[in-house]
Amino acid sequence: MKEAYSPAKERWALKMAGQQRPTERSTDRLPPGRCIYFDYNATTPLDPAVREAMLPFFAEVWGNPSSVHQVGRRARAMLDEARDEASAMLGCKPSELVFTSGGTESANLAVLGTARHLKPRGQHIITTAVEHHAVLHACGYLAKKEGFEVTHLPVDRDGRVSVESLLKAIRPDTILVSIMAANNEIGTIQPVTQLGAVCREREVLFHTDAVQWFGKEPFQDIHQFNADLVSICAHKFYGPKGAGALFVKSPLLPDPILLGGGHENERRAGTENLASIIGLLEALKLFVRKPIFSREMLLPLSAQLIRSLEDLAGVTRVGSLEHRLANTIAFVVRGTDSIALLANLDLEGICASSGSACSAGSLEPSHVIRALGIGPELQNSLVRFSLGRESTSEEVDYVEKILPEVIFRSRRHQ
Ligand SMILES: Cc1ncc(COP(=O)(O)O)c(C=O)c1O
Repeated sequence: MKEAYSPAKERWALKMAGQQRPTERSTDRLPPGRCIYFDYNATTPLDPAVREAMLPFFAEVWGNPSSVHQVGRRARAMLDEARDEASAMLGCKPSELVFTSGGTESANLAVLGTARHLKPRGQHIITTAVEHHAVLHACGYLAKKEGFEVTHLPVDRDGRVSVESLLKAIRPDTILVSIMAANNEIGTIQPVTQLGAVCREREVLFHTDAVQWFGKEPFQDIHQFNADLVSICAHKFYGPKGAGALFVKSPLLPDPILLGGGHENERRAGTENLASIIGLLEALKLFVRKPIFSREMLLPLSAQLIRSLEDLAGVTRVGSLEHRLANTIAFVVRGTDSIALLANLDLEGICASSGSACSAGSLEPSHVIRALGIGPELQNSLVRFSLGRESTSEEVDYVEKILPEVIFRSRRHQ
């Protein structure tokens, strides 16, 4: 049951917080046609250099890499070269890289493919309560339809999983552990290297959904995660949508989830999307070793937003302060919900997001917020700001100024 919101309580809360009710606009509107995009965890724009690299593959190089004639052979040569370069950049063998249609497919292939492949050895999978649905729903499907048992590790108030809880959960029949590197909703970073080391020691395969890690956090090579499977997604770091990869440590061969031709070494059927693969490669080369989401530039901006939240009555920041993506700020707001907040932000020209599935007026509470132990009265009110390369301090100033008014208006319409 949602707690009733009372204006008297709000006045009291504002008074306690030393705040005035915003009575008139505290700042000018953005000029028409301008918006502030604070939703970079959802997607990034395509970088112009990446687009340039892709263009020839929409015009000159259009062959099917599986065709044996010269047009096909030309595409095949480019595909092989892209795989060599991408694997060299990641620090793995070319045969250990499967190109996919993005993060969801990579995570699905890792979870469904590995579980099915190893089913004769055991049917227990471990994941966490805060994974992206690409992992959670794949695990749920295996449990519901294919007889697997899934343990969801809890997280602490910051959204972190502990090594101890993983150690306790591993059983003789555990075949796979899947834990994300960084959370898309609240930005909390998991101790993946340690979690991966535990799995290795216990001889259990480890998948990490590193979709939010690439381009944001330091990357030396793919083995830094101590993982057997790593999911990557190009549009989260200025590459194209519909392009991703799954690192699969040899000699593991997950069962394919797409059946048909023998593409990607029998691991993923379907004619390769060469333009997107080239885009992924270019984004990997340009934006991952030196993360395009610069901590140096983003930390002060997100710290300013975090500080400004402290002054707002009924607003609680969520996620870890110590272990967080520098670009991500998440908070819940008492007395209103994400739909009202996002709509009012949008009216002010601010593009933000909630972790929940908002559609046509319906709202699912965020599973991540629930897992943090936050009460039901706040579970529907998550707002996530995720900043990127184009974010500026003027934008942060504007959002900081307008936020009390946005919250006030969102509450009024409850
Ligand atoms: C952590 C994480 N995993 C997986 C995905 C799925 O990626 P896509 O929707 O591009 O397939 C996302 C996208 O938001 C994500 O943030």
